[in-house]
Amino acid sequence: MKVLVVGSGGREHAIVDALHRSPSVDKIYCAPGNAGIAQQAECVAIKDTEVEKLKRFVEENAIDLTVVGPEAALAVGIADEFRKAGLKIFGHTKAAARIETSKEFAKQLMEKYGIPTAGYKAFDSYDEAVAYVESRPLPAVLKYDGLAAGKGVVIAETIEEAREALRDMLLDDRFGKGRVVVEDFLEGPEFSLMCFVEGENVYPMPVAQDHKRAYDGDKGPNTGGMGAYTSLPFITADDLEYAMEHVMRPTAKAMVAEGCPLTGVLYGGLMKTADGVKVIEFNARFGDPETEVVLPLIDSDIANVFEAVATAVTPAPIVWSKDVTLGIVLASKGYPGDYAKGYPIHGTERVDGTVFHMGTAVKDGELVTNGGRVLFVVAKGATLADAHRKANEEVSKIECENLFHRTDIGHKAFA
Ligand code: AMP
Ligand code: GLY
Repeated sequence: MKVLVVGSGGREHAIVDALHRSPSVDKIYCAPGNAGIAQQAECVAIKDTEVEKLKRFVEENAIDLTVVGPEAALAVGIADEFRKAGLKIFGHTKAAARIETSKEFAKQLMEKYGIPTAGYKAFDSYDEAVAYVESRPLPAVLKYDGLAAGKGVVIAETIEEAREALRDMLLDDRFGKGRVVVEDFLEGPEFSLMCFVEGENVYPMPVAQDHKRAYDGDKGPNTGGMGAYTSLPFITADDLEYAMEHVMRPTAKAMVAEGCPLTGVLYGGLMKTADGVKVIEFNARFGDPETEVVLPLIDSDIANVFEAVATAVTPAPIVWSKDVTLGIVLASKGYPGDYAKGYPIHGTERVDGTVFHMGTAVKDGELVTNGGRVLFVVAKGATLADAHRKANEEVSKIECENLFHRTDIGHKAFA
């Protein structure tokens, strides 16, 4: 099989790496890819949202299957266009991707089908939103309805903070013209459950946990994710069964009933509350950086799974390693705020483990930083303590004067 992976981050590197281990794949392309991906795939200079160009590339090169990483490509309808042209693609249609791209769509779906989530109300009037928040207990959870690159959620501890956030979102249109969803505040450990979904068929992957804050001790600003690990001691087999039974399978069914079946990854951002597992958010794609710790554990042929979902057949049973993984992001100093690019990186070849590239480039034959999140070092172990020790040892082999990382990834599992 010839496969094209769409995207350019650590998540896509992990997808390419899993395909690289697949016996049924003999050629991998990645558009646009990055310097690390280029070691395992042929990178093609087409952006993830340039659907027409991607389609032409697939047709001209007789590519058998396309796998989509980023939601932006799904949101512009890459899967719809490919299917219309009779091309096999792993990724949701634009209508199905609304489960991520519209918080209100996701909320209404959950309400209609009784899928457990925080109670909510949507507003486009600033005055009405403020009045509602004032009538309720704090903290207030305020979410901009639309793609806001992970920055559209504010947990306001005071009325003043809530007012300021609502002013930003509804009066100053900081993310564009949109609505705001005000949610009940939930408490409990969070975990990410990703499933391959084709219609009503749902195949779970191992659970993982992301670390959104920039610095150790969960301090500092929210980021795209600073590290992740699998094997969460506080999530039991019963919790997982509950999540599958009450969240993931009913959601897949609901999307079929709504006429927009899923054909890709459904990512559940879930919380284990005193009142059962509830949905914090859905994504219509592989999570980042969760994918970078989950996919190294797949022991079966991932190309078979992608193809089965793309063509609506049953995949062969999916086998996962019993090992656990833990991964640490190396980010540019200043991230998630302003940062400089182009700093030389040394030592990646000395790492005993996997190094996924998130934002790198090659300049004058030298590997350099080229993004906010730059590298992701993953270690595998029989236990989480093993993986934690190894990942921290290996990360210190990478030399670059402009990178920083967290040293406490996995701390909730050790608490
Ligand atoms: P989201 O982008 O929806 O995943 O929200 C970002 C983060 O905000 C989540 O990972 C949670 O830590 C927090 N959060 C979102 N919604 C709620 C809620 N209803 N109650 C408590 N925390 C929340
Ligand atoms: N790790 C969170 C996300 O992929 O959105």
